[in-house]
Amino acid sequence: MTHSYNIIIHDRQAGQTYELSVPNDRYVLHSAEDQGYKLPFSCRNGACTSCAVRILAGQVYQPEAVGLSQHLRDRGYALLCVSYARSDLEVETQDEDEVYELQFGRYFGGGQVRFGLPLDED
Ligand code: FES
Repeated sequence: MTHSYNIIIHDRQAGQTYELSVPNDRYVLHSAEDQGYKLPFSCRNGACTSCAVRILAGQVYQPEAVGLSQHLRDRGYALLCVSYARSDLEVETQDEDEVYELQFGRYFGGGQVRFGLPLDED
């Protein structure tokens, strides 16, 4: 049965807080957009983490959030493009690339990356 939940979204980049109602059978991002709210997104299918938020209160259901590790889900992150509300919610947008860095930063952080042409060593 369709039921609606209240959600408070702190958009930290825009310095705005939105309060809206979302049905439990629609993705939060899509429902918010239909109501005129502009939130960060890119792929819209749970792969890129652009739409990631920190859950401050409440529960979401996000079985298709393939781009988000279980570890980060356990730490309270959610991808709004593939999240259903399962209670009233309060969330805040991530810092830029925060989730991406948490998941993948370790792969790029350990070594030196060289740019440009190798030096001529004669
Ligand atoms: S927009 Fe890419 S994961 Fe949500």
